[in-house]
This record gives sequence, C-alpha cells and structure tokens, in this order.
Amino acid sequence: TRVALAFSGGLDTTVCVPLLEEEYGYDEVIGVTVDVGQPAEEFDEAEETAAALDLEHYVVDAKDEFADLCLDGVRANATYQGYPLGTALARPVIAKAILEVAEEQDCTGIAHGCTGKGNDQLRFEAVWRDSDLEVIAPVRELGLTREWEQEYADERDLPVEGGSGGDWSIDTNLWSRSVEGDELEDPNYVPPAEIYEWTQDPSGETEEIEISFENGYPIAVDGEEMDPVALIEHLNEIAGAYGVGRTDSMEDRMLGLKVRENYEHPAATTLLNAHEALEGLVLTQEEREFKQLIDQRWSKKGYEGLVDAPLVSALEGFVDETQKRVTGTVTIRFEGGQARAVARDSEYAAYSAEHASFDTESVGKIDQEDATGVAKYHGFQRRLANSVIDGDE
Ligand code: ARG
Ligand code: SIN
Repeated sequence: TRVALAFSGGLDTTVCVPLLEEEYGYDEVIGVTVDVGQPAEEFDEAEETAAALDLEHYVVDAKDEFADLCLDGVRANATYQGYPLGTALARPVIAKAILEVAEEQDCTGIAHGCTGKGNDQLRFEAVWRDSDLEVIAPVRELGLTREWEQEYADERDLPVEGGSGGDWSIDTNLWSRSVEGDELEDPNYVPPAEIYEWTQDPSGETEEIEISFENGYPIAVDGEEMDPVALIEHLNEIAGAYGVGRTDSMEDRMLGLKVRENYEHPAATTLLNAHEALEGLVLTQEEREFKQLIDQRWSKKGYEGLVDAPLVSALEGFVDETQKRVTGTVTIRFEGGQARAVARDSEYAAYSAEHASFDTESVGKIDQEDATGVAKYHGFQRRLANSVIDGDE
C-alpha cells in the first residue's frame, strides 16, 4: 500500500514519513512538493531531505495555475483582515496537484503535516475528501508537538536542521510570505527587522509612539493624556512629518458624478490604524466581521452629512457595546509614509498564546485531534452541490 505525503522537507513533514509506515501501516510513502513560487532553497531542502530519507519524491510545477488564481483574487480585491490570501489561495492548488500524483501513483492514502490548530488542514482536506483516498493528518491525529517531533527526529537520526535561521514558522509563495510562531505569539512583541525578507526597512527616519485607548477613544500619546483637539493636532504634526496620510482617489459623489480628489489626514490615518489593531486583539471574529458592515453604514451616513439620522443612533448602539473592551495601548511605527501598528496590548485580549501555539500540548481540554471532525465537515455542502453540478454536465 502507498500513501502520498505533502512534503516540504521541514520538521513536521519529515517526521510524518516514518510515522506513516509505523503508525498507519503503509508500505511505501511518496513525497510530493508543489511549486507555487517558493524560493529555490526550499526545493533544495525538500530534495536533500527526501534523498536522505530515501523517499520517492515528486515535484510538481503549479506556478501558472496559482498565479492565475492570485489574479482572480485581484479582480475581487481579495483580502482577509488586511492579508491578500497568499497561503490560503495556494492550498487548494497544492492539494489538487498532490491528489493527481497520488492517483497516478496508485496510492490509497494521502497525508499532510499540518497541525490541528491551523487553517491549512481544512483547506487541504476539503479537496482530498472529494476523493476516496484515506486522508491522514499524523501531527493532528497523534497530537504531536514541535518538541516531541524534534526528540523523535533526534532519536531516529532523521535529517532535520535544528531550526535554521530563527524559530519562525514561515510560509512563502509567489503571492505572500508569512511568518508566525515563537516570540511573535506575543501580540505586544515588536517584530525584529530580520523576519522580513522581501521588503527592505524603509530608509530614512522612523519613530514609534504609543497610543492609549479607552472604550475606543484615543486618550493619550506616550502616556501623556491629551484632550481630543490637542491629540489630533499633535498626531497631525508627527505623522505628517513622515508622509503619512495621503489619499488620491476617484470619488463617487452623491449626485453620481465621479471626481478626482486628493486629501491629507496624518492623524486620522494613524488613529484609524491604531484603533483597528486594538479591535483585532479584543473583539471576537464575528464582532469584527459584523462591525465592518456597521462601520460602512456609519461612514456612508457620514459621507451624506446625515450623522443625525436615527440609523446612526442605532449603529452607535452596536459601536458603544463593542468599544467597552477597546481599551489598551497600540505602538505605531511611522516609516516610509506609513503608520503601522507593530505591537498591541489590552487586558481584554480575546487571545491566548498558549492555545494558539504549535509548541504546547493540549490546554483547557482542547486537543489537536478535536479538529479532525471539523476537517471532515469543512466544505461539505460545496462537495454535495458540486457533485450535483458536475452530474448535470
Ligand atoms: N495564517 C495564514 C493563513 O491561514 C498563513 C499561515 C502560514 N503558515 C506559516 N507557517 N506561516 O492563510
Ligand atoms: C495554518 O495552517 O494556519 C498554520 C500551519 C499549521 O497549523 O500547520
């Protein structure tokens, strides 16, 4: 019996190779690495590790297909909480390519090395569960932690490099590069320049300030309380000096005419970015999502000059309720024309590094394996709907 494994040559997928034989009883594992524009070194690592493991290894080029999908994303202005979906859009492309190899190679199983905590398990399995292959997620099903994997790899003398270049967990493809884990699990930790590879630190001066919020209202800069006018004037001055807050747009006026408009608003940009960063820490996912609709409507009434409309009072009710927890501090860095949040802290954080971490074992009765059921249901309706649509053709 053969099983195809989504293989990167990293720690997770490397320990999966012997585990698929020992724990799942497969005679042969084949590794598949799909090219969605990762850097060349990643393929070298995959090839070398595969060779050292004596693993039958396939590399599939899916760059064109992935690039097409990225550009479909552009057509839809596709972002999720500010992120253009590089990892997310790549996963179905990778999953499909691996499934094709698995079927060609007469595999009866298909496996990934994702944890039971992330998104990728759901994205891979949504595609794979369309097939009849046995879907296997060793890291999740065996409840593995990075620490356990490292020990296992050492014991077995598996070819893993001991955390090359920082302990970040990195995912790179054509569309985006993502860095998470280790110290970055602390929302108030300012990332060092070394986490970035594609983007140079903007040259010229930079400056960091800390803005304090209470119930969603900014009340102080660098610990110094200011009334609203003073605070806005102060931020207009500092942020303006860094070129923050220019808008050049084609504006749709209420009468329907488009007009070319240019604006400057350094304090506004700074406060809006800081406020959104703090909401990201304290509000639940569904509050954030729903608040976008509220915010859009509020803005529209604002644009219309109708902030005294009853609708606005009703919207304010929702805003007030959510802002009760928007208390804390945000560190803003001015650099290269931007005012970017680089750290945030609040006693109301709806976040637990302990739960999110890849390094920790189960906490609060939540185990990685609990996600297996979720993975089976993810995309279930679309599977049924697609099978009906395909049947019609
Ligand atoms: N969280 C992002 C997503 O769900 C990317 C995660 C990528 N993985 C990593 N190890 N950096 O799309
Ligand atoms: C993710 O899937 O979101 C991160 C990587 C993982 O959990 O394996």
